[in-house]
Amino acid sequence: MPFYQRLGLEMPTNTSDTEAETFDTDKLALLVSETPAMVSFHFGCPPTQVVEALKGAGIVVAATATMVSEAIALEKTGVDVVVAQGWAAGGHRGSFETNFEEVGVGTFALVPQICDSVDCLVAAAGGIGDGRGIAACRVLGADAVWMGTAFLTCTKAPITKVHRKALLSAKDTDTHLSRAFSGRPCRARKTPFSIQMAEGRPILPEFPLMYNYSSPIKKHGIALDDLNN
Ligand SMILES: Cc1cc2nc3c(=O)[nH]c(=O)nc-3n(C[C@H](O)[C@H](O)[C@H](O)COP(=O)(O)O)c2cc1C
Repeated sequence: MPFYQRLGLEMPTNTSDTEAETFDTDKLALLVSETPAMVSFHFGCPPTQVVEALKGAGIVVAATATMVSEAIALEKTGVDVVVAQGWAAGGHRGSFETNFEEVGVGTFALVPQICDSVDCLVAAAGGIGDGRGIAACRVLGADAVWMGTAFLTCTKAPITKVHRKALLSAKDTDTHLSRAFSGRPCRARKTPFSIQMAEGRPILPEFPLMYNYSSPIKKHGIALDDLNN
């Protein structure tokens, strides 16, 4: 891969194992015994029995939808809150019924349609940066907002100096949807690596295996205090 050569990095040797964990009965038991105030699911529709077990323990259950049909499917499982994740949202897409290349509904269009389609609580997510966005989402019908990127520059957020700098200097066009970091579509800051991985849409390893390939490049950037590699 030209990136490893150019940056003088070793090729990753672990090209099959991954460290990602999946949700299983042990984790469910742990949550039910620890009873956090809320549990949220982001990569799919949790089984009804899981939602019932969590709610039975007094835990509020939230899950992400990126289109109306996903919101309806989530409501059927009994979740308390649907997080309506618009196209602008930072981080991974919570889509589970669609391919992200085909469906990308903006927050402003998605939130009222989901509010009109489900009876459970709706939290709006995606591109909300301050009180103006919160007020707008409340007018669109959302019961709450679900913000991510805006909190990353808080003093207690455990991000690196170089990421903080990049966030604070970011422009409106500096992000894109990319599979280059994890193998799953994720809104991230554009880098030469993510741009090249998007060109020609090469078939990349599936989530989470792609982390094994992207992590050395990310670590190199952090070490050099320069994400433009
Ligand atoms: C760096 C980062 C990490 C995230 N990690 C998670 C996560 O682990 N679980 C989750 O449900 N959502 C995660 N999200 C997505 C948020 O829940 C939310 O959909 C998104 O941040 C909203 O858009 P905004 O970043 O424009 O506010 C993450 C978002 C970012 C930016």
